[in-house]
Amino acid sequence: MRANSTGGSGPLGSGASPGSTVSPRATPVLSISELSVIYGSPSDNVRAVDNVSLDLHPGEVVGLVGESGSGKSTLAYGACRLLRPPALITSGSVRYQGRRMEHPVDILSLRAGQLTSLRWREIAIVFQSAMNALNPVLRVRDQLVDVIHAHLRISHGEAIEKAGSLLDMVGIPRARLRSYPHELSGGMRQRVMIAMALATDPEIVIMDEPTTALDVVVQREILAQILELKEQLAFAVLFITHDLSLLLELADRIAVMYAGQLMEVGTAAEIHHEPAHPYTKRLLHSFPSLRGPRRELTGIGGSPPDLHQPPPGCPFLPRCTEGTDACSQIEVRLAHVASSSDPTHVTACPFVLPDGHVTPRSASQGGGTPRDADVKANGRRGKNGRRARKVNR
Ligand SMILES: Nc1ncnc2c1ncn2[C@@H]1O[C@H](COP(=O)(O)OP(=O)(O)O)[C@@H](O)[C@H]1O
Ligand code: SF4
Ligand SMILES: [Mg+2]
Repeated sequence: MRANSTGGSGPLGSGASPGSTVSPRATPVLSISELSVIYGSPSDNVRAVDNVSLDLHPGEVVGLVGESGSGKSTLAYGACRLLRPPALITSGSVRYQGRRMEHPVDILSLRAGQLTSLRWREIAIVFQSAMNALNPVLRVRDQLVDVIHAHLRISHGEAIEKAGSLLDMVGIPRARLRSYPHELSGGMRQRVMIAMALATDPEIVIMDEPTTALDVVVQREILAQILELKEQLAFAVLFITHDLSLLLELADRIAVMYAGQLMEVGTAAEIHHEPAHPYTKRLLHSFPSLRGPRRELTGIGGSPPDLHQPPPGCPFLPRCTEGTDACSQIEVRLAHVASSSDPTHVTACPFVLPDGHVTPRSASQGGGTPRDADVKANGRRGKNGRRARKVNR
Protein backbone atom coordinates (compact mmCIF):
# COMPACT_ATOMS: atom_id res chain seq x y z
CA MET A 1 0.00 0.00 0.00
CA ARG A 2 0.99 3.53 -0.61
CA ALA A 3 2.77 5.75 1.81
CA ASN A 4 1.16 8.88 3.13
CA SER A 5 1.24 12.03 1.11
CA THR A 6 -0.80 14.11 3.48
CA GLY A 7 1.72 16.80 4.11
CA GLY A 8 -0.26 17.63 7.21
CA SER A 9 1.55 19.37 10.00
CA GLY A 10 -0.59 19.43 13.06
CA PRO A 11 0.20 20.44 16.59
CA LEU A 12 2.21 17.28 16.98
CA GLY A 13 5.00 18.97 15.09
CA SER A 14 6.20 17.26 11.95
CA GLY A 15 3.23 14.88 11.81
CA ALA A 16 3.84 11.50 10.31
CA SER A 17 4.21 12.48 6.72
CA PRO A 18 6.92 15.03 6.12
CA GLY A 19 9.61 12.94 7.72
CA SER A 20 8.08 9.65 6.73
CA THR A 21 10.58 6.99 5.75
CA VAL A 22 7.96 4.84 4.08
CA SER A 23 8.74 3.76 0.57
CA PRO A 24 5.73 3.33 -1.69
CA ARG A 25 7.04 0.06 -3.04
CA ALA A 26 8.48 -1.33 0.17
CA THR A 27 7.55 -4.89 1.07
CA PRO A 28 5.25 -4.81 4.07
CA VAL A 29 6.97 -5.67 7.30
CA LEU A 30 3.67 -7.14 8.48
CA SER A 31 0.96 -8.44 6.23
CA ILE A 32 -2.26 -9.60 7.83
CA SER A 33 -4.36 -11.56 5.34
CA GLU A 34 -7.99 -12.54 5.76
CA LEU A 35 -7.65 -12.97 9.49
CA SER A 36 -10.72 -14.15 11.37
CA VAL A 37 -10.97 -14.55 15.13
CA ILE A 38 -13.90 -15.77 17.20
CA TYR A 39 -14.51 -15.92 20.92
CA GLY A 40 -16.17 -19.26 21.48
CA SER A 41 -18.92 -19.80 24.00
CA PRO A 42 -21.13 -22.83 24.64
CA SER A 43 -24.17 -21.05 23.22
CA ASP A 44 -22.72 -18.85 20.50
CA ASN A 45 -19.54 -17.45 19.00
CA VAL A 46 -18.54 -13.81 18.91
CA ARG A 47 -17.12 -12.92 15.50
CA ALA A 48 -14.64 -10.38 16.82
CA VAL A 49 -12.48 -10.16 13.67
CA ASP A 50 -13.98 -11.14 10.37
CA ASN A 51 -11.76 -11.65 7.34
CA VAL A 52 -9.49 -8.64 7.89
CA SER A 53 -6.46 -7.86 5.72
CA LEU A 54 -4.05 -5.06 6.53
CA ASP A 55 -0.43 -4.24 5.66
CA LEU A 56 2.12 -2.32 7.66
CA HIS A 57 5.22 -1.04 5.87
CA PRO A 58 8.65 -0.37 7.34
CA GLY A 59 8.65 2.93 9.19
CA GLU A 60 4.94 3.48 8.61
CA VAL A 61 2.35 4.57 11.18
CA VAL A 62 -0.94 2.82 10.55
CA GLY A 63 -3.82 3.92 12.73
CA LEU A 64 -6.55 1.45 13.55
CA VAL A 65 -9.68 3.26 14.67
CA GLY A 66 -13.19 2.24 15.65
CA GLU A 67 -15.65 2.32 18.50
CA SER A 68 -15.08 0.24 21.56
CA GLY A 69 -15.76 -3.43 20.86
CA SER A 70 -15.07 -3.17 17.12
CA GLY A 71 -12.28 -5.76 17.33
CA LYS A 72 -9.15 -3.57 17.22
CA SER A 73 -7.32 -5.22 20.10
CA THR A 74 -8.39 -8.70 19.00
CA LEU A 75 -6.99 -8.03 15.52
CA ALA A 76 -3.64 -6.83 16.87
CA TYR A 77 -3.24 -9.52 19.52
CA GLY A 78 -4.51 -12.19 17.15
CA ALA A 79 -1.85 -11.18 14.63
CA CYS A 80 0.80 -11.74 17.33
CA ARG A 81 -0.89 -14.86 18.66
CA LEU A 82 -1.34 -13.34 22.06
CA LEU A 83 -4.96 -14.34 22.50
CA ARG A 84 -6.02 -16.94 25.00
CA PRO A 85 -9.05 -19.23 24.83
CA PRO A 86 -11.95 -18.78 24.32
CA ALA A 87 -10.38 -16.79 21.45
CA LEU A 88 -9.75 -18.89 18.37
CA ILE A 89 -8.13 -17.87 15.10
CA THR A 90 -10.30 -19.53 12.49
CA SER A 91 -8.52 -18.43 9.31
CA GLY A 92 -5.90 -16.20 7.80
CA SER A 93 -2.16 -15.68 7.73
CA VAL A 94 0.19 -13.08 9.21
CA ARG A 95 3.40 -12.64 7.27
CA TYR A 96 6.28 -10.95 9.03
CA GLN A 97 9.43 -9.86 7.16
CA GLY A 98 11.86 -7.96 9.37
CA ARG A 99 15.28 -6.54 8.46
CA ARG A 100 17.03 -9.04 10.70
CA MET A 101 15.24 -12.03 9.18
CA GLU A 102 16.44 -13.87 6.11
CA HIS A 103 13.01 -15.11 5.12
CA PRO A 104 9.48 -14.03 5.88
CA VAL A 105 7.58 -16.11 8.42
CA ASP A 106 3.92 -16.79 8.96
CA ILE A 107 3.37 -15.91 12.59
CA LEU A 108 0.33 -18.15 12.74
CA SER A 109 2.48 -21.19 11.90
CA LEU A 110 5.43 -20.52 14.23
CA ARG A 111 6.33 -22.91 17.04
CA ALA A 112 6.24 -21.63 20.63
CA GLY A 113 10.03 -21.08 20.79
CA GLN A 114 10.07 -19.18 17.50
CA LEU A 115 7.20 -17.02 18.71
CA THR A 116 9.07 -16.14 21.90
CA SER A 117 12.06 -14.89 19.97
CA LEU A 118 9.85 -12.89 17.61
CA ARG A 119 7.84 -11.13 20.30
CA TRP A 120 9.43 -8.05 21.78
CA ARG A 121 12.65 -8.53 19.73
CA GLU A 122 10.80 -7.98 16.44
CA ILE A 123 7.30 -6.91 17.47
CA ALA A 124 6.76 -5.09 20.76
CA ILE A 125 3.42 -4.14 22.25
CA VAL A 126 2.38 -1.33 24.54
CA PHE A 127 -0.79 -2.80 25.96
CA GLN A 128 -3.97 -0.95 26.79
CA SER A 129 -3.61 0.45 30.36
CA ALA A 130 0.02 -0.69 30.24
CA MET A 131 1.12 1.94 32.72
CA ASN A 132 -0.77 0.03 35.37
CA ALA A 133 1.11 -3.12 34.48
CA LEU A 134 4.40 -2.07 36.09
CA ASN A 135 5.29 -4.17 39.11
CA PRO A 136 4.62 -1.91 42.13
CA VAL A 137 7.34 -3.48 44.30
CA LEU A 138 10.22 -3.29 41.82
CA ARG A 139 12.24 -0.23 40.90
CA VAL A 140 11.98 0.98 37.30
CA ARG A 141 15.63 -0.01 36.75
CA ASP A 142 15.03 -3.64 37.73
CA GLN A 143 11.97 -3.94 35.52
CA LEU A 144 13.82 -2.52 32.51
CA VAL A 145 16.87 -4.70 33.18
CA ASP A 146 14.63 -7.80 33.42
CA VAL A 147 13.26 -7.13 29.96
CA ILE A 148 16.72 -6.43 28.52
CA HIS A 149 18.16 -9.64 29.98
CA ALA A 150 15.22 -11.68 28.74
CA HIS A 151 15.87 -10.68 25.14
CA LEU A 152 19.48 -9.52 24.74
CA ARG A 153 22.73 -11.23 25.66
CA ILE A 154 24.57 -8.43 27.42
CA SER A 155 26.25 -8.04 30.82
CA HIS A 156 24.44 -6.68 33.87
CA GLY A 157 26.42 -3.43 33.71
CA GLU A 158 25.57 -2.98 30.05
CA ALA A 159 21.91 -3.70 30.79
CA ILE A 160 21.83 -0.97 33.46
CA GLU A 161 23.50 1.46 31.07
CA LYS A 162 20.94 0.55 28.41
CA ALA A 163 18.09 1.03 30.91
CA GLY A 164 19.45 4.55 31.56
CA SER A 165 19.67 5.38 27.88
CA LEU A 166 16.14 4.11 27.33
CA LEU A 167 14.88 6.52 29.97
CA ASP A 168 16.89 9.32 28.30
CA MET A 169 15.22 8.43 25.05
CA VAL A 170 11.70 8.86 26.44
CA GLY A 171 12.59 12.07 28.27
CA ILE A 172 12.79 10.78 31.86
CA PRO A 173 15.82 11.70 34.00
CA ARG A 174 18.12 8.73 34.69
CA ALA A 175 17.78 9.31 38.41
CA ARG A 176 14.29 7.87 38.03
CA LEU A 177 15.83 4.44 37.48
CA ARG A 178 15.71 4.15 41.27
CA SER A 179 12.03 5.10 41.48
CA TYR A 180 9.16 2.78 42.20
CA PRO A 181 6.15 3.07 39.85
CA HIS A 182 4.01 4.87 42.46
CA GLU A 183 6.62 7.65 42.57
CA LEU A 184 6.00 8.42 38.88
CA SER A 185 3.13 10.32 37.27
CA GLY A 186 0.80 8.50 34.85
CA GLY A 187 2.58 10.08 31.88
CA MET A 188 5.98 8.99 33.18
CA ARG A 189 4.79 5.43 33.76
CA GLN A 190 3.47 5.31 30.23
CA ARG A 191 6.82 6.58 28.96
CA VAL A 192 8.54 3.81 30.92
CA MET A 193 6.28 1.29 29.19
CA ILE A 194 7.20 2.78 25.81
CA ALA A 195 10.90 2.63 26.78
CA MET A 196 10.41 -1.01 27.69
CA ALA A 197 8.79 -1.75 24.34
CA LEU A 198 11.78 -0.15 22.58
CA ALA A 199 14.39 -1.98 24.67
CA THR A 200 15.19 -4.51 21.95
CA ASP A 201 15.04 -2.15 18.97
CA PRO A 202 11.91 -3.81 17.54
CA GLU A 203 10.83 -3.43 13.96
CA ILE A 204 7.17 -2.97 14.85
CA VAL A 205 5.58 -1.38 17.90
CA ILE A 206 1.90 -2.04 18.45
CA MET A 207 0.37 0.61 20.68
CA ASP A 208 -3.08 -0.16 22.02
CA GLU A 209 -4.74 3.05 23.24
CA PRO A 210 -1.40 4.14 24.77
CA THR A 211 -2.57 7.58 25.77
CA THR A 212 -6.27 7.08 26.44
CA ALA A 213 -5.91 7.27 30.23
CA LEU A 214 -3.80 10.45 30.13
CA ASP A 215 -4.83 14.09 30.10
CA VAL A 216 -4.72 15.90 26.78
CA VAL A 217 -1.48 17.81 27.42
CA VAL A 218 0.47 14.72 28.48
CA GLN A 219 -1.15 12.78 25.65
CA ARG A 220 0.17 15.28 23.11
CA GLU A 221 3.66 15.26 24.60
CA ILE A 222 3.80 11.48 24.46
CA LEU A 223 2.48 11.33 20.92
CA ALA A 224 5.06 13.86 19.77
CA GLN A 225 7.70 11.73 21.45
CA ILE A 226 6.49 8.56 19.76
CA LEU A 227 6.82 10.27 16.37
CA GLU A 228 10.29 11.52 17.23
CA LEU A 229 11.41 8.06 18.34
CA LYS A 230 9.92 6.52 15.24
CA GLU A 231 12.01 8.84 13.07
CA GLN A 232 15.10 8.09 15.12
CA LEU A 233 14.70 4.30 15.33
CA ALA A 234 12.71 3.67 12.14
CA PHE A 235 10.19 1.26 13.60
CA ALA A 236 6.70 0.86 12.19
CA VAL A 237 3.71 1.55 14.40
CA LEU A 238 0.26 0.05 14.54
CA PHE A 239 -1.55 2.64 16.63
CA ILE A 240 -4.91 1.59 18.03
CA THR A 241 -7.37 4.17 19.27
CA HIS A 242 -11.04 5.12 19.28
CA ASP A 243 -9.99 8.74 18.63
CA LEU A 244 -9.95 9.44 14.91
CA SER A 245 -8.95 13.09 15.40
CA LEU A 246 -5.71 11.96 16.99
CA LEU A 247 -4.88 9.65 14.09
CA LEU A 248 -5.42 12.39 11.52
CA GLU A 249 -2.29 14.04 12.89
CA LEU A 250 -0.31 10.97 13.78
CA ALA A 251 -0.84 8.31 11.15
CA ASP A 252 0.38 7.78 7.61
CA ARG A 253 -2.58 5.57 6.85
CA ILE A 254 -5.79 4.90 8.72
CA ALA A 255 -7.87 1.73 8.81
CA VAL A 256 -11.43 2.21 10.06
CA MET A 257 -12.86 -0.84 11.80
CA TYR A 258 -16.47 -1.60 12.64
CA ALA A 259 -18.07 -4.77 13.96
CA GLY A 260 -14.94 -6.83 13.36
CA GLN A 261 -14.44 -5.72 9.76
CA LEU A 262 -12.56 -2.97 7.97
CA MET A 263 -14.84 -0.30 6.55
CA GLU A 264 -12.28 1.97 4.92
CA VAL A 265 -8.51 2.27 4.51
CA GLY A 266 -6.76 5.32 3.15
CA THR A 267 -4.07 7.86 3.86
CA ALA A 268 -4.74 10.21 6.74
CA ALA A 269 -5.47 12.98 4.20
CA GLU A 270 -7.94 10.81 2.28
CA ILE A 271 -9.75 9.80 5.43
CA HIS A 272 -9.82 13.42 6.58
CA HIS A 273 -10.76 15.21 3.37
CA GLU A 274 -12.30 12.53 1.14
CA PRO A 275 -13.91 9.97 3.46
CA ALA A 276 -15.86 7.47 1.41
CA HIS A 277 -17.61 5.20 3.88
CA PRO A 278 -20.67 6.55 5.72
CA TYR A 279 -19.23 5.24 9.02
CA THR A 280 -15.98 7.16 8.51
CA LYS A 281 -17.99 10.28 7.73
CA ARG A 282 -20.01 9.88 10.91
CA LEU A 283 -16.87 9.32 12.95
CA LEU A 284 -15.41 12.53 11.52
CA HIS A 285 -18.55 14.37 12.59
CA SER A 286 -18.22 13.10 16.13
CA PHE A 287 -15.44 15.42 17.24
CA PRO A 288 -14.84 19.16 16.90
CA SER A 289 -12.26 20.49 14.48
CA LEU A 290 -9.50 22.65 15.97
CA ARG A 291 -9.25 24.64 12.77
CA GLY A 292 -11.79 25.52 10.10
CA PRO A 293 -15.39 26.61 10.49
CA ARG A 294 -17.49 25.67 13.50
CA ARG A 295 -19.89 22.87 12.69
CA GLU A 296 -22.57 20.92 14.43
CA LEU A 297 -21.45 17.62 15.87
CA THR A 298 -23.87 14.90 14.86
CA GLY A 299 -22.31 11.82 16.45
CA ILE A 300 -23.53 8.37 15.49
CA GLY A 301 -26.95 7.27 16.63
CA GLY A 302 -27.57 3.74 17.85
CA SER A 303 -24.94 1.25 18.88
CA PRO A 304 -22.73 -1.32 17.18
CA PRO A 305 -24.32 -4.70 16.42
CA ASP A 306 -24.14 -7.70 18.70
CA LEU A 307 -21.25 -9.73 17.29
CA HIS A 308 -22.91 -12.95 18.41
CA GLN A 309 -25.40 -12.36 15.63
CA PRO A 310 -24.15 -9.68 13.26
CA PRO A 311 -26.76 -8.49 10.77
CA PRO A 312 -26.49 -9.87 7.23
CA GLY A 313 -24.69 -7.73 4.70
CA CYS A 314 -23.30 -4.39 5.81
CA PRO A 315 -22.96 -4.32 9.61
CA PHE A 316 -23.44 -0.53 9.63
CA LEU A 317 -26.90 -0.75 8.02
CA PRO A 318 -28.96 -0.30 11.23
CA ARG A 319 -27.21 3.04 11.84
CA CYS A 320 -26.58 4.20 8.30
CA THR A 321 -28.66 7.10 7.05
CA GLU A 322 -27.97 6.08 3.45
CA GLY A 323 -28.77 2.40 3.85
CA THR A 324 -31.24 0.51 1.68
CA ASP A 325 -32.51 -3.06 1.67
CA ALA A 326 -29.82 -3.85 -0.87
CA CYS A 327 -27.22 -3.19 1.82
CA SER A 328 -28.28 -6.31 3.68
CA GLN A 329 -27.29 -8.42 0.69
CA ILE A 330 -23.76 -7.26 0.13
CA GLU A 331 -20.65 -9.18 0.91
CA VAL A 332 -18.46 -6.84 2.91
CA ARG A 333 -15.18 -6.40 1.13
CA LEU A 334 -12.89 -3.52 0.42
CA ALA A 335 -12.92 -2.04 -3.07
CA HIS A 336 -11.30 1.00 -4.62
CA VAL A 337 -13.05 4.30 -3.97
CA ALA A 338 -14.14 5.40 -7.44
CA SER A 339 -13.64 9.10 -6.67
CA SER A 340 -10.06 8.57 -5.48
CA SER A 341 -6.99 8.63 -7.71
CA ASP A 342 -5.22 6.45 -5.14
CA PRO A 343 -5.90 2.76 -5.85
CA THR A 344 -5.12 1.93 -2.23
CA HIS A 345 -7.95 4.11 -0.92
CA VAL A 346 -10.58 1.45 -0.35
CA THR A 347 -14.05 1.27 1.15
CA ALA A 348 -16.41 -1.52 2.13
CA CYS A 349 -19.48 0.47 1.07
CA PRO A 350 -20.23 -0.51 -2.55
CA PHE A 351 -22.62 2.39 -2.99
CA VAL A 352 -20.03 5.16 -3.07
CA LEU A 353 -20.51 6.96 -6.37
CA PRO A 354 -17.71 8.37 -8.56
CA ASP A 355 -18.47 11.85 -7.17
CA GLY A 356 -17.77 10.59 -3.66
CA HIS A 357 -21.42 10.62 -2.58
CA VAL A 358 -23.30 7.53 -1.52
CA THR A 359 -26.42 6.35 -3.34
CA PRO A 360 -29.16 8.19 -1.44
CA ARG A 361 -31.72 6.37 0.64
CA SER A 362 -35.03 6.11 -1.20
CA ALA A 363 -38.42 6.59 0.41
CA SER A 364 -39.16 2.91 -0.02
CA GLN A 365 -35.71 2.01 1.25
CA GLY A 366 -35.22 -0.05 -1.87
CA GLY A 367 -33.25 2.38 -3.95
CA GLY A 368 -29.81 0.89 -3.67
CA THR A 369 -28.06 -0.44 -6.72
CA PRO A 370 -25.25 -2.63 -5.46
CA ARG A 371 -22.63 -3.76 -7.87
CA ASP A 372 -23.55 -7.24 -9.06
CA ALA A 373 -20.27 -8.76 -7.99
CA ASP A 374 -20.83 -7.69 -4.42
CA VAL A 375 -24.29 -9.12 -4.03
CA LYS A 376 -24.63 -12.71 -3.01
CA ALA A 377 -27.91 -14.28 -3.95
CA ASN A 378 -29.76 -16.41 -1.48
CA GLY A 379 -27.96 -19.68 -0.91
CA ARG A 380 -24.64 -18.59 -2.35
CA ARG A 381 -21.80 -18.12 0.03
CA GLY A 382 -19.53 -15.11 0.12
CA LYS A 383 -15.76 -15.24 0.36
CA ASN A 384 -15.98 -15.31 4.12
CA GLY A 385 -18.26 -18.29 4.00
CA ARG A 386 -21.32 -16.42 5.22
CA ARG A 387 -24.66 -17.22 3.72
CA ALA A 388 -26.38 -14.09 2.50
CA ARG A 389 -30.03 -13.49 3.32
CA LYS A 390 -32.51 -13.19 0.54
CA VAL A 391 -34.18 -9.82 0.36
CA ASN A 392 -37.58 -9.46 -1.25
CA ARG A 393 -37.80 -6.47 -3.50
N1 LIG B 1 -12.58 -12.82 26.27
C1 LIG B 1 -13.63 -12.52 25.53
N2 LIG B 1 -14.70 -13.33 25.48
C2 LIG B 1 -15.78 -13.04 24.69
N3 LIG B 1 -15.85 -11.95 23.91
C3 LIG B 1 -14.82 -11.10 23.93
C4 LIG B 1 -13.66 -11.33 24.73
N4 LIG B 1 -12.79 -10.30 24.54
C5 LIG B 1 -13.39 -9.48 23.65
N5 LIG B 1 -14.60 -9.95 23.30
C6 LIG B 1 -15.55 -9.34 22.35
O1 LIG B 1 -14.88 -9.19 21.10
C7 LIG B 1 -15.26 -7.98 20.48
C8 LIG B 1 -14.02 -7.19 20.12
O2 LIG B 1 -13.36 -6.79 21.33
P1 LIG B 1 -12.01 -5.94 21.30
O3 LIG B 1 -11.07 -6.56 20.35
O4 LIG B 1 -11.56 -5.82 22.71
O5 LIG B 1 -12.52 -4.55 20.73
P2 LIG B 1 -11.81 -3.13 20.79
O6 LIG B 1 -10.37 -3.33 21.08
O7 LIG B 1 -12.08 -2.53 19.45
O8 LIG B 1 -12.52 -2.36 21.88
C9 LIG B 1 -16.20 -7.27 21.45
O9 LIG B 1 -17.51 -7.54 21.03
C10 LIG B 1 -15.92 -7.93 22.76
O10 LIG B 1 -17.06 -7.93 23.57
S1 SF4 C 1 -24.95 2.66 2.25
FE1 SF4 C 1 -25.36 0.55 2.76
S2 SF4 C 1 -23.46 -0.57 2.39
FE2 SF4 C 1 -22.97 1.61 2.50
S3 SF4 C 1 -22.42 1.91 4.65
FE3 SF4 C 1 -24.60 2.41 4.47
S4 SF4 C 1 -25.60 0.50 5.00
FE4 SF4 C 1 -23.49 0.00 4.56
MG1 LIG D 1 -9.22 -2.60 22.71
